[in-house]
Amino acid sequence: MIIIIDVADNDHSKEYEIKFLNETHLDPILCLQDTVIRSLSDSAIYYGEPIEFFRKQLMIKDGSMGIFKKEQVVGFHMASFPSFNEAQLGVDIGLNQEELSQFVQLGPVVIHPDHRKKGLLTRVANMHLKTLEEMGYKHVCLTISPNNYPTIRTTLAQGFVIKQIKKKFNNLLRYIFHLDFRNRFKQPKYSVRIPNTDIESQKFIFSLGFYGYNVLKNDNGFDIVFGHDAIKA
Ligand SMILES: CC(C)(COP(=O)(O)OP(=O)(O)OC[C@H]1O[C@@H](n2cnc3c(N)ncnc32)[C@H](O)[C@@H]1OP(=O)(O)O)[C@@H](O)C(=O)NCCC(=O)NCCS
Repeated sequence: MIIIIDVADNDHSKEYEIKFLNETHLDPILCLQDTVIRSLSDSAIYYGEPIEFFRKQLMIKDGSMGIFKKEQVVGFHMASFPSFNEAQLGVDIGLNQEELSQFVQLGPVVIHPDHRKKGLLTRVANMHLKTLEEMGYKHVCLTISPNNYPTIRTTLAQGFVIKQIKKKFNNLLRYIFHLDFRNRFKQPKYSVRIPNTDIESQKFIFSLGFYGYNVLKNDNGFDIVFGHDAIKA
């Protein structure tokens, strides 16, 4: 059964519905992923998942949301609920055993190239996060390439912070984002801007306990803004 959970009320995107996905959506999901991969200008931005991943993923209750236009899947947003042994991202950012038991991992997310820049990522991500919070989860992590401006921007706007930069998915460089539903981001006391391409400086600043909390365009691309609350002299 498909539950219709959202139909937008603004004119621009009235035509889209957001519904939970299930096993019957495997073929359209694979097809959509193929289209998205073929359209990438930078192949390192998106890690193509194998069919086994989606088979397993679509069986998870409330794990996958789809965006539909006239019954066609034009986007998806996935969440998984890993066991202690599988919760790699939670371990990477130092969550303890109790926190790992309340932990959700997000990704992948895609929007079909013909339906981008209509706020669909923002809408589907907000809806899925609301559902996950209502389900009682407390910590959410996801990874994003340092070159993926739209996803970084949307994710920071939702209250996530960047906790680490690390090689993931067969050696692809990724930021690890974290959202604590009960302890949302507050403006830090100290901040510093670093270009997204300056990976060494970012690794250094993370080692000092800074976290990324904003993104600002610069002349060549964009900077990540890092914050810290208590710098010791
Ligand atoms: C990343 C992706 C999901 C964004 O989807 P979308 O529905 O177009 O995103 P939104 O319309 O909600 O836009 C989010 C923000 O990014 C901006 N944005 C979107 N596409 C952009 C682009 N190509 N360049 C610059 N900014 C962009 C939007 O203007 C918006 O900013 P705003 O809130 O200031 O208006 C889509 O581009 C995609 O599928 N990319 C390939 C797969 C991928 O990278 N997935 C993420 C990693 S798993």
